[in-house]
Amino acid sequence: MNILVVGGGGREHAITEAIARSKKETSIYAVMSKKNPGIARRCKDFLLEKETNVEQVVEFALSKQTYLAVIGPEAPLAEGLTDALQDAGIKVASPGKRVSQLEFDKAWARNFMKKNNITGCPLFDVFSDKESMESFIDKLGNVAIKPSGLTGGKGVKVMGDQLPDKQAAKEYAISILEKGSVVVEENLKGEEFTLQAFVDGKHLSFMPIVQDHKRAYENDLGPNTGGMGSYSDKGDILPFLTSEDVESSKRIMEDTVRALWKETGQEYKGTLYGQFMVTRDGPKVIEFNARFGDPEAMNVLPLLETDYVDVLVAMVDGTLDSLDVRFSNKATVCKYAVPSGYPENPTRDREVIVGDIGKALLFYSSVYDKDGKIYTTGSRAIAVVGIADFIEEAEKVAQNALENLSGDIYYRNDIGKDILIKRRIEHMKQLRS
Ligand code: AMP
Ligand code: GLY
Repeated sequence: MNILVVGGGGREHAITEAIARSKKETSIYAVMSKKNPGIARRCKDFLLEKETNVEQVVEFALSKQTYLAVIGPEAPLAEGLTDALQDAGIKVASPGKRVSQLEFDKAWARNFMKKNNITGCPLFDVFSDKESMESFIDKLGNVAIKPSGLTGGKGVKVMGDQLPDKQAAKEYAISILEKGSVVVEENLKGEEFTLQAFVDGKHLSFMPIVQDHKRAYENDLGPNTGGMGSYSDKGDILPFLTSEDVESSKRIMEDTVRALWKETGQEYKGTLYGQFMVTRDGPKVIEFNARFGDPEAMNVLPLLETDYVDVLVAMVDGTLDSLDVRFSNKATVCKYAVPSGYPENPTRDREVIVGDIGKALLFYSSVYDKDGKIYTTGSRAIAVVGIADFIEEAEKVAQNALENLSGDIYYRNDIGKDILIKRRIEHMKQLRS
């Protein structure tokens, strides 16, 4: 079976490793903009090309007699790559363009949730004119401001974080209006978590819950990033969540998949990513993504005990309900090493030397190899993952691995540490009391 992986980051490296572990006889091909050494090593052949160049990707897929394709990043989903591959007769374990609007058009996503009475939708409205927007900001008082389109996780600004006050919120919202519509929503207070599921159009198989860390610096300070690291716990829950929180977020995702079909006439097939904020009133939806999270994919895919190729086939064939999708009952901690100065003024083209990383797993992200040496590109470089019975042990495995990477890089020491997790538990206890 010839399988094509589209994308060249840490997430796609994890996807590639999961396919490579399959007991099925497979040949892996990849399309990536830069040569990821981890992916390249597992591939029979690869094309260095922008993932959004739909025509070239389809041509390459056809030339390799691809049976099935998996698309890692969001940008090609928004370009309609899934639909183009399907038109060429290739099965795709990623969602089509119509249902992917859930991720790439935040205004569409919020209106869709409201229209379909999806629980957990915050108070919001979408604006294209200044006066009504300003009065809505006054009415809500404390808001998050979101451009409607894809921004690589960097366009959302929240009062109390990037926006000091209501005036700053209005000014930022007005600056977005010049380019398109703006979503204004209530500022939710709580703890964030990620729930991902495999989806075959109708059925969902849930993965272990993960908490990502968006801020660049320790203690959740500094600018937002694509995600500096993440952890998961055994038992399909996180220490600050209740089992009711987990159940209601699962229900929200099931309702969303059903409503997507009703709304668009297209079945959602592929990984669905729910970003939630658990508040004193239970989980609310921050956003949905039409793909795995990066880093979250690296927490969950290594735990997958079921053959991932069977999962991919079940998603495209609509038979997930008859597949027993299992994950090993372990904790994981994933941490990213990133270039100095990331995300605002990162250094580039600096060598990273990987020493003895012990039991940790290693995933290459935005690096390239030249003459057998690994160099940074300015984005998140290398992720390491510890897997153990407890978060604390998994953290030590990941941390030890990071300490054996050398180069012009930094990372967050605190992700997965007890003190940070205790703070989250305390925060939720306070909010719920
Ligand atoms: P997004 O790009 O939608 O994931 O948003 C980036 C970050 O902004 C999220 O991870 C949250 O921390 C924050 N955020 C987004 N929407 C809200 C909201 N309604 N209330 C509070 N924080 C939010
Ligand atoms: N880790 C956040 C994302 O992949 O969107």
